[in-house]
Amino acid sequence: MTTEKGLKLVERDEGGVDPVFRSDVIEGLSQEQKAIPARWLYDDAGSQLFEDITQLPEYYPTRAETEILTERAEEFAARIGPGRAVVEFGSGSSVKTPLLLEAIAPAAYVPLDIAGDFLRASAAELAAKFPGLPVHPVEADFMRQVQLPEEVADLPKLGFFPGSTIGNMVARTAVDLLRSMRETLGIGAQLLIGMDLIKNEDVLVAAYDDDAGVTAEFNVNLIRRINRELDGDIPVDAFEHEARWNDDYARVEMHLVAGRDMTFTVGGRTFTMQKGETIHTENSHKFNRRTSNMLLLAGGWEPQERWLDSKDRFSLILAEARPPRSAP
Ligand code: AVI
Repeated sequence: MTTEKGLKLVERDEGGVDPVFRSDVIEGLSQEQKAIPARWLYDDAGSQLFEDITQLPEYYPTRAETEILTERAEEFAARIGPGRAVVEFGSGSSVKTPLLLEAIAPAAYVPLDIAGDFLRASAAELAAKFPGLPVHPVEADFMRQVQLPEEVADLPKLGFFPGSTIGNMVARTAVDLLRSMRETLGIGAQLLIGMDLIKNEDVLVAAYDDDAGVTAEFNVNLIRRINRELDGDIPVDAFEHEARWNDDYARVEMHLVAGRDMTFTVGGRTFTMQKGETIHTENSHKFNRRTSNMLLLAGGWEPQERWLDSKDRFSLILAEARPPRSAP
C-alpha cells in the first residue's frame, strides 16, 4: 500500500497479519535448509533485545565504531568538510549520529527509515540536540532509490550507514543497496559506512553467543513472534540458539537448532524437522580491506579512506560516488 506521498506502509490482512511476513516464513520453512529473513527478528521485543546486545561485553562492534567516531572526529571533519546534508540509512542511533554531526558541522540531516514512528521519535530527539540544524525525516524503503526533500537538493551529500548492517545482507543484496544509495545521493556524494572485520573465530562466535544468553533470546524470540502472529505451535523450548562461523563466506551465521524430531504448524501449514536440523535466521558478514573495497566498488563507490578502532576490530570507510569513466 502507498499513501499520497508515495510512502510505503506495512500491509495487514483481515487477521492483522503482515502477508509478507507470512509468505517469508512459509516459504523459508518449506526449503531444504530452512531460513527466515533476518529483518523479521526486529519486532518490538527483538529491537529491544538488539539494543541490549549492543551493551554486552562480548559484542564489540558498537563500542569499536563509537570509539572511531569519537577519536577520529578531526580527521572526519578534514576529509568530509562542513555544509553537507547527512543522509542516514536507518533511523539515527542515539549515540553514533550525534558524534558524526558534531564532528562535521553539516547543513542538514535526513534520516531515512521504513518504520515511521521510530523515525519521527529519533528525528525529534536529534532536532532537540542540534537546535540550528534542519532535520528532514523521510519515511521510505531505502533498499530502493529515494526522492530526497527539495530543501537538500542543492547540498553536497554524505550517506551514513553505520553498524555494519551491510554485513547482514548477502553480496547480491548488498550491491543492490549500494547502487540504490548511489542513485539516491547522486554523483559526487560521499558515503561513510561501518564494516566489521574478520578476526579470531572465538571472538566472533562469542559476540553472537554471549554468556548472558541475550543473543540466544533475540534469536528464539523469532519463534515466539511466528507463533503469536502466524498462529503457530512451534515448540519454543525445543530449540537452541547457535552462532557458527562460515569461513567460506566470511560470516557468522545464527541458527535455531531443533533439539528433537518434531512436527508443527504455522499459518495452517504443517512442517517437520529432525533433531539437529536448523532454521537459519541471520548472516553477519565480516570483511577485510580487499573484500570491503571490492563490495563498495561493485556498488559504484570508490573507497577513499579507512579508519579502524585501536584494536583493529571494526572499520569505518569513506567512499565517493565518482562519475563512470572508461577503464582498461
Ligand atoms: C544489526 N546487525 C549489524 C547486528 C550484527 O552484528 O550483525 C545484528 C545482530 N545479530 C546478533 N547480534 C547482533
